Amino acid sequence: MSDYQNDRGNNDASITNPSGRGSAENTDRKGQATPATDQPFLIGNAMTGGYGKGPDILNDCTVAVNRGEIAVIVGPNGAGKSTAMKALFGMLNMHGGRVVLDGEDISTLSPQDRVIKGMGFVPQVRNIFPSLTVEENLEMGAFIRKDDFRQTMAQIYDLFPILRDKRRQAAGELSGGQRQQVAVGRALMTKPKVLMLDEPTAGVSPIVMDELFDRIIEVARTGIPILMVEQNARQALEIADKGYVLVTGRNAHTGTGKELLADPEVRRSFLGG
Ligand SMILES: Nc1ncnc2c1ncn2[C@@H]1O[C@H](COP(=O)(O)OP(=O)(O)OP(=O)(O)O)[C@@H](O)[C@H]1O
Ligand SMILES: [Mg+2]
Repeated sequence: MSDYQNDRGNNDASITNPSGRGSAENTDRKGQATPATDQPFLIGNAMTGGYGKGPDILNDCTVAVNRGEIAVIVGPNGAGKSTAMKALFGMLNMHGGRVVLDGEDISTLSPQDRVIKGMGFVPQVRNIFPSLTVEENLEMGAFIRKDDFRQTMAQIYDLFPILRDKRRQAAGELSGGQRQQVAVGRALMTKPKVLMLDEPTAGVSPIVMDELFDRIIEVARTGIPILMVEQNARQALEIADKGYVLVTGRNAHTGTGKELLADPEVRRSFLGG
């Protein structure tokens, strides 16, 4: 059973994903009904590549997230965490490895086509439109949808009530934590099947970080698997079903969040003892 199911008590799942698998009531999320596959829902497998004609940043790097789970990528600055996320999203020149989403090889798809396939991505930087209002940001998030997205918007406002209050305000005027809520909300507007977050708690206070983690857990409980990069390694691994420590574009340590938190080498090198 996952730690955060015991420790974090928010059962108010408000972003519903009909194609996902709700897990709030399930005491053993790994035991829930899934198609006959033990493959991760999203995997970047043995990814090797870099930017343009530059050197390889990722070297045989594998990251993945299972259905109904939260996976966390940690590691030092410059380790290639954001690069791994960009590779999953189709923004890198890869000459090794592949990206598989729900059993389908999507390695050759453009980022936009990956969004259509169900990927929601919140990049580390420039993840909102500062001059647009909060609501306009959410509307931009719905760019691939042809149906009525007002219900999704209402669900996002239920998840992040402060955004409803500030919906007519320019997103650039919001606090750091509020801007991250806009960014996550924007990604949720496509009703993604998997959510990728690059440092969702960057630059926010510990209290706001806890609050954001609670909301992220809430999203995960609606059945949307979450793969996130975090610099708050200890706190992130506490809520992670699976953790990856990357160093110089390679997998240095992989395990459950609990295993990594207990690993003396990981503790010494990455968690400050
Ligand atoms: N657009 C780019 N073009 C060329 N090189 C890049 C680009 N973005 C990142 N790099 C290089 O790739 C390497 C990994 O960077 P990346 O941003 O993936 O690290 P990170 O683990 O996300 O670091 P941080 O914790 O600081 O966010 C670095 O050496 C960086 O200089
Ligand atoms: Mg980064």
